[in-house]
Parts: sequence; C-alpha cells; structure tokens
Amino acid sequence: MLRDTFHRPMKDLRISVTDRCNFRCTYCMPLDEYVWIKREEILRFEEITRLARLFVQLGVEKIRLTGGEPLLRRDLDKLISQLSAVRGLKDLCLTTNGSLLAEQAPALAAAGLKRINVSIDTLNPEKFKRMTKRGDLAKVLDGLFAAQSYGLHPIKLNAVIERGVNDDDIVELVEFSREHGFAIRFIEYMDVGNANNWISEKMVSKQEILEKINAHFPIREIGRDQGSAPSVDYQFTDGSRRLGVIASVTEPFCSRCTRARLTADGKLVTCLFSDHGHDLKALLRRGATDAEIIGVISAIWRRRTDRYSDERLAAMNSPQGYQANAHQKIEMITLGG
Ligand SMILES: C[S@@+](CC[C@H](N)C(=O)[O-])C[C@H]1O[C@@H](n2cnc3c(N)ncnc32)[C@H](O)[C@@H]1O
Ligand code: SF4
Repeated sequence: MLRDTFHRPMKDLRISVTDRCNFRCTYCMPLDEYVWIKREEILRFEEITRLARLFVQLGVEKIRLTGGEPLLRRDLDKLISQLSAVRGLKDLCLTTNGSLLAEQAPALAAAGLKRINVSIDTLNPEKFKRMTKRGDLAKVLDGLFAAQSYGLHPIKLNAVIERGVNDDDIVELVEFSREHGFAIRFIEYMDVGNANNWISEKMVSKQEILEKINAHFPIREIGRDQGSAPSVDYQFTDGSRRLGVIASVTEPFCSRCTRARLTADGKLVTCLFSDHGHDLKALLRRGATDAEIIGVISAIWRRRTDRYSDERLAAMNSPQGYQANAHQKIEMITLGG
C-alpha cells in the first residue's frame, strides 16, 4: 500500500470543482480582488473522473466535492453520476454553503449523491449576512430541508466558530440540529490561507466549545470515526444524536492525516496549509498514460512530510509564539476546504 514518510496511507480525496463562490465568508475568502482561475484551466468532468479513478486505484476510498461553492459548477449532477460509477469508491459526498441546494437537491440525489455537509455558522439572519457578506439564511435553510426531503442522509452541519462573532450561537445551533435530526460539527477557526488575517485569539478551542455545550446538553466522548476522522465525536447522554468537533489547531491530527486535495485547476496538494501544489493537469493534457500519472502521484505521496498543524501547535506553545502570516499558504477557496 502507498504510504508517505510518516507511514500514512492516502485514503481521502477532496476535489475542488471551482474556486468561485457566491458568499464571502470573512474567515475564508479575501474581500479584495482575487485572481480567479481561468475557465480553460479548470479541470473538465472527464479529467476529474479519470484522476478520481486513478486515486481510487492508489487507495482512496472517499471523495468529497468542495470548492469555492461546488453548486456553482454547472451540471454538477453529471460529475456526480460519473464519480458514482467509479469502481472501488466507497463514499462520495459534498460540502456546500447550501444557498443553491433547494433547486439542485433533486438532481443531486438522482445522480447518486448520498450525503452532504452544509456550512451554517449562525441562525441569526443579520449575523449570517454579516459573516457571509452576501448570504441569505432563509435560502440555506430551504436548501437544508429540501435535501432532507430528497433523502440525502446523513446531513451534517459544519459551523466554524470565531470568537466575538458567533461563539454565542453554539447552543442554538446544537438545539437546531437536535430538533431537526442533523448531525453537527464545530470547527476550530484555522489559519488557512493568508487573507483572513488569522490570529489565535479569534480561535475558540474545542475545550471551550464543549464546555458551552455541556452546560446545556450533557455529552460523552465516542472518539474518532474509524480512528482517523478529523472530528472527535460525542453523544448526548440522553442517547439522542451525535455531534463532533474538529480541533485542528488545539489537537492536531497530522499523524493520522490520510487526505489529499485536488484543486479546481488540477493541482495535487498534500496539506491544507501547503504553499504549493503539483500540476496533474499538465500531465493529463499532454497525453500521459494512466501508469505515468499513477507513478507521479505515488512519488509525490511517498515524499509527503506535511505536519503543519503539529508544527503550529509547537510554535504556539513556544516563547516566540506563532505568526500565521509569516507562512505563505494557498487560500481555502483555491485549495478546496
Ligand atoms: C471552503 S468551504 C467550501 C465548500 C462550501 N463553499 C462551504 O462553505 O461549505 C469548506 C468548509 O471550510 C470551512 N472553512 C472555511 N474557512 C475556514 C477557516 N478559516 N477555518 C475553519 N474552517 C473554515 C467552511 O466553513 C466550510 O465548512
Ligand atoms: S466558506 Fe464556503 S461559502 Fe464561505 S466563502 Fe468559503 S467557499 Fe464560500
């Protein structure tokens, strides 16, 4: 089996299908001018599916489609149909801001999509608009319930918590997810890219998030799904639903990270905090054989040494501290979150 320098296999692939987004979440996107990837540089569906097939041959079991906002990619359901037919792929899912879900849920479900994650950081409409700059909470909620009615299951909600912005929304989000049968995962605010000007003070730790929840809904830890998932899961002690916390800042899981990323323009990126990718599109477009492409991907993975979040935590705990902007990183919308 393919392993990197720390003996980690490659099991998950996140594919960004576009770097464009109809929101401008302050923790994710630059508000200023951003140089969008040119249309002709974006991978075509056939190219994505071919690469997906090769990644699966190398051990990938799970693919998540993301972006930017993936539902902005025209005819996404066609890509989902193609990926659903990749032999050996065990799980295909999608992360979306939900704004276009109400209209697309039927086609996505018909194409074979099984489950989705919807990002929703507050249930307060004005705050939602402030955080996303352009988002309409009512449309996202419509999308969420449409997805539920079309049988996309389980639906997970993702909420990034930023201090002084939405840390007072945690309990309401938990109540909402319990009431409607959604699983919810809270995400520590991370220093992905450089545009969000991350400072550690804005990050609300897993421990603080859990304390707030526990004060209202007692929970107990279950652990990580299959031992390697980024989220640590909890169960309400009344036996009802589950929730999770992704603590990539305070409890890094680099030693278990089995995730590769493919950018919308076909670059293979081996860490969320990388400053560069490896161009697979060039190989595709110059007519490389499957064997050649597999050779290149394997060589990149075998050399992989990434453990950025471990290093960040060590720096945060050192006398010098950690300077997020001293490190040049690819922006989240380019990478695929
Ligand atoms: C980049 S988005 C792409 C998919 C889609 N547009 C969405 O919002 O779900 C994927 C996930 O990354 C999360 N994210 C973006 N910036 C983040 C940050 N700085 N820290 C933690 N999570 C972040 C988002 O909240 C979302 O759940
Ligand atoms: S988090 Fe998702 S919705 Fe928000 S700006 Fe980033 S890509 Fe767009």
